This record gives sequence, structure tokens and C-alpha cells, in this order.
Amino acid sequence: MSALKRGDGTAAWAALLGHYQAHGRDFELGDAFARDARRFANFSFEAPEVFADLSKNHIDTATLHFLLALAQECGLPGQRDAMLRGEVANATEGRAVLHTALRAPRGAAPFSDEVHGVLDSMLAYAEAVRADQGFTDVVNIGIGGSDLGPRMVVQALQPFAHSRLRLHFVSNVDGHDIAPLLATLDARRTLFIVASKTFTTQETMANAHAAKAWFQAQGGSETARHFVGVTTNLLAAATFGISTTFGFWDWVGGRYSLWSAIGLPIAIAVGAPGFQDLLAGAHAMDQHFAHTPLAQNLPVVLGLLDVWYRNFHGRTSRSVAPYHEGLRRLPAYLQQLEMESNGKSVDRDGQPLPFGTSPVVWGEPGTNGQHAYFQMLHQGTDVIPVEFIAVKKPAHTLPEQHQMLLANCLAQSQALMLGKTAQQAATEKAPTASPDIPAEVLARHRSFPGNRPSTTLMLDALTPRALGALVAMYEHRVFTSGVVWGINSFDQWGVELGKALAGQLLPRLASGDTTGLDASTAGLLSRLRR
Ligand code: F6P
Repeated sequence: MSALKRGDGTAAWAALLGHYQAHGRDFELGDAFARDARRFANFSFEAPEVFADLSKNHIDTATLHFLLALAQECGLPGQRDAMLRGEVANATEGRAVLHTALRAPRGAAPFSDEVHGVLDSMLAYAEAVRADQGFTDVVNIGIGGSDLGPRMVVQALQPFAHSRLRLHFVSNVDGHDIAPLLATLDARRTLFIVASKTFTTQETMANAHAAKAWFQAQGGSETARHFVGVTTNLLAAATFGISTTFGFWDWVGGRYSLWSAIGLPIAIAVGAPGFQDLLAGAHAMDQHFAHTPLAQNLPVVLGLLDVWYRNFHGRTSRSVAPYHEGLRRLPAYLQQLEMESNGKSVDRDGQPLPFGTSPVVWGEPGTNGQHAYFQMLHQGTDVIPVEFIAVKKPAHTLPEQHQMLLANCLAQSQALMLGKTAQQAATEKAPTASPDIPAEVLARHRSFPGNRPSTTLMLDALTPRALGALVAMYEHRVFTSGVVWGINSFDQWGVELGKALAGQLLPRLASGDTTGLDASTAGLLSRLRR
């Protein structure tokens, strides 16, 4: 049995329940700002490369006080320090959790020699590929953590990318992913990176074999030059026929692996200095997480805010709205990071949890979301905390459009907070309304409840360093809420059943045998074969 306290067993949790009933449930942002002229300053947080405005959230000083007490009672500082020292944090897989060691300077963290040895050779290889005029296209074949992080980062850092090399990402086992891409490539000029921690993942292996077969069918002969592997399973990569392989370690979780050799496509795109800057930004955030008092510790406070909304307000989802096109895959990346980490329903001791864990994380880059689901955020029946991400300096030369983007970002969080009463709406003309609709009915349609919470994160520019810090901040935020929920944030047993059943169904799709299957699956399988 774990000696660690789970959130709901603490005095702070009980205090938070009382605080929620007395002040949280009916919290009014308008009143909070009226009461406290310094609310913006009081609820602003500065972390390396990331500024956060939490003032538009349903929190006050007492809320933070109780949440910080909750973190202390759950032993967050001790658990954080143990993780950073490399003491086992993933008990159900018997592994340490040390992605922070991947971005620590030489000699500053466990396994430094191994980490920097692979990093040096991976970066040297990336530079060699960048300098090699023979390559025009690089295809990363991987899925989950072996795809989402590198893909998101390469997109975000496009302005820093190599001008000749085109980077592609293939993840889906659906042949509609790889087939059209292969049709555009020249085998003599393409490098394939097969990225898989285990080197057994069905999707990745299927795509890697398809790529190899295509390469050979195109007359490609130098497999060793055109295929490179990134994996912890060096033997399997060798069996596949790959001779250049960069390794990493079982203490790097798939969704925490973009800092390892899994980041090879990033290093090829932005070069060794760019990759080092990404690591340096993440390390700066690690230092902030490790050493800043909890009350000013941005990932800690954000993780506790997630607990506040999920467990006391009952909010089941959080929408992420990055107002930067480069961050368009950030929500998808966060879905794996947050939901695969904290989508759990038993605690460390296997006891069923009586409270909710990971919210659904979703979103689109602004302003696209505004013209799709923001209607629901503003007027829907559910209150969904929104996280805006604004970037001060653009990497393009269209300043007017950047001003429009920023104005929209500010306007959305303002509108969510301010709302509009039916009385206010009644004073406005609605040019398109039917003359039959009574004015007070129309005003109700046109009113906004307001008081809807949001956070705004701000970066100066989307540089490798800033992006590294931002992503590390999310990693530590997930750790924080996971500690309060008393769960193992580093395993993912929930993905196994579907994988095993797919393995059993595959031969049945060929044979048509439905013996022993449930009626629905049998019916669907038969229909697919008809
Ligand atoms: O879907 C589960 C998972 O194990 C993820 O955690 C992981 O990132 C992904 O599959 C890919 O795994 P691998 O890198 O071993 O191919």
C-alpha cells in the first residue's frame, strides 16, 4: 500500500469542498475584479518563456491557498524530487520516469553520459542529413508519442526549418496515409525514419514494411542509407534491416520522448542548435518546476487549477485555443500527453477512484474554432474552461493580420467573461430578425451568460526555446494533477485491450470466421466481407 496521501483523503480537500460551496459555486468574475484592483497582477505568473494570466478563472486567494495546501498534503514536492532523481515513478511498469534527464546539461542529471552520447551522435547525423544534397524528403514513420511530439514541434518551428528538406509524417495504419505520400516521393532522394520505442507497434511496422517494399520496387538498393531507426529495441530494428539506429531508454515514456532521439525529425528540420535550444527551454522550465515555491510555480498552479475545475466544479473538459497556426497540432499532442497520462480510474494501489480524473482536452487553432464550436463555449449549457495561447511576435510580415489575430484572442476571453445580459441585448437592433419574434424573446437568444473562465498563456515568440519551455510546462502540469489524484500518470494499460482484440480479428477478416464473437462484431465483420 502506498504511504502517499490521495487528494480526497486530505484536510485540504475537505476545506476546498467547503470553500467551493461557500464561494466557488457562485463565483462571479465581475465581482472579483471589482473587489480587487490588482487582480490581474495578483493572478499573473511568470515562468521561463511563458507568462500566464489566470485572473479570468474562478479562483481567489483562498482557493489558491487551499489548492497549495492540497499539493503539500499529497506530497507533491517530495514526489517531484523523487521523479527528478530517477526513483521509480512508474510502478506498474517498474520504470523510472526521467524525461527531464534528456534535456539536462552534461553531468547535471542521471544517465548523463548515455543521454549526451546518443544526443551528440543523433545531432551529428541530423547535420549530415541537412548537408546531404542527395536528400529532398524525410518521412517519419511512427505513431502516438513517436509521431505527435515531433510532428507538432516541426510544424511549430517551420520558420526555423531547413529550406530544401521537406518533412513528412506518417502515422495511421490506414493506407490512405502513406500511399498518397509515397506517390509523390523519389526513392533516391528520400530518407525514412522508423520511430518506435518498442519497434512492435502494428501501425508503424505496417507502414515501415510498406515503405521498404515501395523503396525496393522503385529500384532503391541502399537501404542502409535510406532507412534509419529510433528505438529502445535495437535488435528488432536490426532484424528489420536497419543498420543506423539511435537508441533511448525504457525510462522515457512514449508521450514524453520528443526530447530523445525520437526528436530526430526536429533536429533535421531545425538543426543541432535549434534542437539544443528546444532542450534548453525545457530544462529552464524543469528548473522552475523543481525550485520555484509552489505558490509561484506555474505548472503546479495550472495542475491544481485543473483539479479545482474537474473535482469541485465538475468540469469534464478543457478547450485549448492556440492563437498561432504553427501550434495547430498542439491540442492533438496534449490529448495524448494529458489523456493517456491521467485518463485513469484506479489509484496507485488499484483502488477505484470516487472522483473524476483527466478532462477531455480538445481544440483548434484560433480563429478557426471561433467559427465552429465557440458558439457552444459562449452560449452552450456546459461551462468549459478555455486556455488561450497568444504569441506576441509573428514570424511573418503581415503585421495587420497579426493584430487582428491578437484582437480576436483577447476578445474571446473578454466575451466569455463579460457576457451580455438580455437587457443589454434588447437595446441593440438585430437587423436579420423576423418581425414576428417578440423583442424580449430575441434578446434572450442574443444574450450571453458570461462569467465563463479562461486562462491566457503568452509567449514572446514561437522559438525553439519558448516551445521547449511550453511543452515541459504541460508535462509538469500533468504530473501535478496526477499526484493529487494519486494515480500512475506514466503507464497506459488502457490501450492494450483494443490492440489485442485487433490482433484476434485480423485473421477473422480474412477467413470470415465469426465463431464466438458478439453479435454486433460478427454482423459488422460479415458485412465488411460481403
Ligand atoms: O498507444 C500506446 C502507445 O504505447 C503510446 O504510449 C506510444 O506513444 C505509442 O503507442 C507508440 O509506441 P511505439 O513508440 O512503441 O511505437
